Amino acid sequence: MILIKLGGSVITDKTQYRAFRQDVAQRLANEIADAGERCMIVHGAGSYGHVMAHRHSLAEGAGGKDRSKGLAKVSQDVRDLNLKIMEELNRAGMGCISIPPSASAMMDDGALVDIGLEHYHRYLDLGLTPVTFGDVCLDQTKGFGICSGDRLMTFLAEEFHPRRIVFCSDVDGIFDRDPFSDDEAILLDIVDEGTLNQLCRTSRYTDVTGSIHGKLEQMLAMARFTQECQVVNGLMPSRLADAIIGKCVTGSKVRGALQ
Ligand code: IPE
Repeated sequence: MILIKLGGSVITDKTQYRAFRQDVAQRLANEIADAGERCMIVHGAGSYGHVMAHRHSLAEGAGGKDRSKGLAKVSQDVRDLNLKIMEELNRAGMGCISIPPSASAMMDDGALVDIGLEHYHRYLDLGLTPVTFGDVCLDQTKGFGICSGDRLMTFLAEEFHPRRIVFCSDVDGIFDRDPFSDDEAILLDIVDEGTLNQLCRTSRYTDVTGSIHGKLEQMLAMARFTQECQVVNGLMPSRLADAIIGKCVTGSKVRGALQ
């Protein structure tokens, strides 16, 4: 089983509200389908989620009519993105089934406590590929919150112990500095706990789920449950396909604490 995250920065243009990269999504869907591996897919929200979630301060939880309206809008937008991704995956020949966290998961004070694992198990047993995504979600303490795709990845990794985990980003992997603003930035072949302290916490995009720092934290947590966890550039043709089948590919390997 291969666990794949299609990052929001790959499938959308994160600088523009609701900008879907259909050509990229179509190619990635074909790469996944052609690899022929059993897999589970999580996709980010990109500009379908972060822009409005930030505008309505949804990460702070329930509070007033405006936030509830914001929640409804983000929920609708990320579902819309999910439908577009499902269309590409199914058109590529996959048999995918969507599991939206807003209807299946539960958080408690910002921590993900339940994602409805039985659904994943049962759909997998039926030979289907579960697809879930960064979404809004109920929170036992705060009313509601933001459930990032990376947290879902960690939850799924712990339950299913995938052979491989592949993250598709819009850059070649994890760099020591922001590669968009610093030409001297160096791609890190291997990242571990020590790398966390060296990375800056800022993001070039509006990001309500913790930018690269928050993502790496989650990657380190899930790397313990797999033989190989890596970040590759989903904008470069065939990087995802190669990573899925275990070919050596440009990217960063993530080493968890026990590896
Ligand atoms: C964010 O999910 C969810 C919302 C903002 C509703 P992710 O954190 O997984 O999305 P990306 O990959 O950063 O876009």
